[in-house]
Amino acid sequence: MLSVDSLQVTYGGAVEAVRGVSMEVPDGAVVAVLGSNGAGKSTLLRTISGTLRLHRGRVDAGTVRFGDLDLTRRDAGQIVRAGVVQVPEGRRIFGRLTVEENLRAGGMGNRDRAAKAEAITRVHDLFPVLRERSGQRAGLLSGGEQQMLAIGRALMASPRLLLLDEPSLGLAPRVIGQIGEVIAEINRQGTSVLLVEQNATMALGVATHAYVLDVGRVSLSGDARELAQSDEVQRLYLGHTGATPEQQRTERAPRRTLSRWTA
Ligand SMILES: Nc1ncnc2c1ncn2[C@@H]1O[C@H](COP(=O)(O)OP(=O)(O)O)[C@@H](O)[C@H]1O
Ligand SMILES: [Mg+2]
Repeated sequence: MLSVDSLQVTYGGAVEAVRGVSMEVPDGAVVAVLGSNGAGKSTLLRTISGTLRLHRGRVDAGTVRFGDLDLTRRDAGQIVRAGVVQVPEGRRIFGRLTVEENLRAGGMGNRDRAAKAEAITRVHDLFPVLRERSGQRAGLLSGGEQQMLAIGRALMASPRLLLLDEPSLGLAPRVIGQIGEVIAEINRQGTSVLLVEQNATMALGVATHAYVLDVGRVSLSGDARELAQSDEVQRLYLGHTGATPEQQRTERAPRRTLSRWTA
């Protein structure tokens, strides 16, 4: 189980990006974190994966634990070896390398040859297109295929917990649906998932439990299906008001008030 307790994170000693967040990912679960731009979603994942320092961020208080291990302030390599692997926002694949080279890069810390062979078979079975395009430059893949490669690269480290930062970003609805199905399949194969998303429909469809982050705090949390029914989530993330994007933008103020009531 991953447990984050009372986490506080700042950038440059000034911007308070995460303000007292507590959350859990039980073993075998898919947990979603929803929130709009700037809510602190990526900061939460960077803290868990030990990559916060690369972004000049700092943990001011709180802990991140994975099973018996205290991951707080550990370096990224140790955290990967502990079984926690992140797919960063914006995919970050190596466009000039081939698909196969990208996957091998993901398995580099994995010294066990048999485990690596098993991982590549798993990735190819999940994403047949990556087998077909093995020798092709990764930069030539479509956006959806690049996201699949980014997920595949992370799976090469044989994670127990996969951290996904907005995998649906910039993808067409049909492709987002495929990504959701793949996340469910990865989970069925035994990997826990912490899924950060702005796309609430996909995230709440695949997760059992969800948290809503609002300006660095948890404003709502609960059973994913119940959250999907809640007025706040319907209005702000599922667009059931029929509001235009412009109207949705002006609806941000009431959400801040909501987070103050529930904080
Ligand atoms: N490297 C950084 N340096 C300074 N501020 C940052 C940095 N990264 C994010 N922030 C700030 O921290 C807050 C949370 O950002 P982020 O975690 O990226 O949110 P989200 O992923 O939900 O969009 C925002 O106010 C953002 O501007
Ligand atoms: Mg982000």
